[in-house]
Amino acid sequence: MADNEPVNDLALLLTPEGRALLEEVRDTDPAQELAVATRLRREHPAELVSAALGQARLRQRAVVKFGAEDAERMFFTPNGVEQSTRASVAAYRARRFAELGVTSVADLCCGIGGDAIALARAGIRVLAVDRDPLTAAAARANAEALGLAGLIEVREADVTEVDTAGYDAVFADPARRGGRGRIFDPEAYSPPLSWAVSAARRAPRAAALKIAPGVPHEAVPEDAEAEWISDGGDVKEAVLWFGTEPGAVRATLLPGPRTLLARGLPDPDVRPPGRYLYEPDGAVIRAHLVAEAAEELDGGLLDATIAYVTSDALRPTPYATAYEITDHLPFNVKKLKALLRERGVGNLTVKKRGSAVEPEELRKKVKPQGPHAATVFLTRVAGAPAMLIGHRCE
Ligand SMILES: C[S@@+](CC[C@H](N)C(=O)[O-])C[C@H]1O[C@@H](n2cnc3c(N)ncnc32)[C@H](O)[C@@H]1O
Repeated sequence: MADNEPVNDLALLLTPEGRALLEEVRDTDPAQELAVATRLRREHPAELVSAALGQARLRQRAVVKFGAEDAERMFFTPNGVEQSTRASVAAYRARRFAELGVTSVADLCCGIGGDAIALARAGIRVLAVDRDPLTAAAARANAEALGLAGLIEVREADVTEVDTAGYDAVFADPARRGGRGRIFDPEAYSPPLSWAVSAARRAPRAAALKIAPGVPHEAVPEDAEAEWISDGGDVKEAVLWFGTEPGAVRATLLPGPRTLLARGLPDPDVRPPGRYLYEPDGAVIRAHLVAEAAEELDGGLLDATIAYVTSDALRPTPYATAYEITDHLPFNVKKLKALLRERGVGNLTVKKRGSAVEPEELRKKVKPQGPHAATVFLTRVAGAPAMLIGHRCE
């Protein structure tokens, strides 16, 4: 029964002996793993020892998403760690559900429970469904480990066969990885996005569907709100909301949260480089809200097709990072090398949009040396390859 092996391994870890062993191997240094395994196998069954060491490794990987306190108590599968929603994003979404007056959610495709846990912590009752036996078992173990079993019912089932009628809201996070890596076509998600959209439309109060941030805007249904979310500047996901504001588009930046809403502005004008260059947050770019961010900055674009905003004004904004530009010249490696030498720049950050130059190769060619730091932007100014040099405004 090879198929049951991982489920049995998880069951072993949930026994008192398994829990004690997990505690013992918690901080095992990967370099010492073999020696530790050999020693532990003298006192414990081999499969329990390897399950515990494997789980300890997964918990270490999960710390960035769940924080040490939770990760050290939770149970993971390799895919479960990879695919789960990080706690900050899940908590933000759960708060939105709670603010919509939602008190119960059917979490369709719950994985190891990243979202279900956050929903329960927001006081919401959750039906958490996953068809994979090991994943569902891990979700159940997590609800118990975090003291949330009273609010989370885990069901091992195919979501397309689950009746969600008794729930205020639906949340779905379809699997976006196939045997050959990431899936880009929303109809190739499991279950397909069109199925999830129908389930969302049936939800009495509200629904949210987590999708890839690269989803084309044309794929957003007219009756949905689309929200792109970044955390610490990295874009994490897009969400389609139903039962909120149809047609609304927003970029939400965590921590915060700070939300920029679409105002239907035309594209910003194209202008020559001013004193400051602003690099919009990835969620703002993905949500196509560069015009909304530029308006707040009294800014324009360096090039009609590139999301760098230029302005003579320095305005604090959460939606973009400001750089003061000291030099701007046509792209030329020799000139850049000379300029950096003259300025004593040894710490060079290379950023690029609309340039095919590889930052690492450029760095090798210009060989930065010296005590100062600078950032070079490789981009286009009104269509022509250009370099803008400056430093981040604090
Ligand atoms: C992206 S993960 C969900 C992650 C989860 N939101 C979290 O934060 O932990 C997607 C999950 O969908 C499950 N899945 C895919 N198709 C399914 C189906 N038809 N029925 C039930 N579960 C399904 C997979 O087993 C996988 O665990």
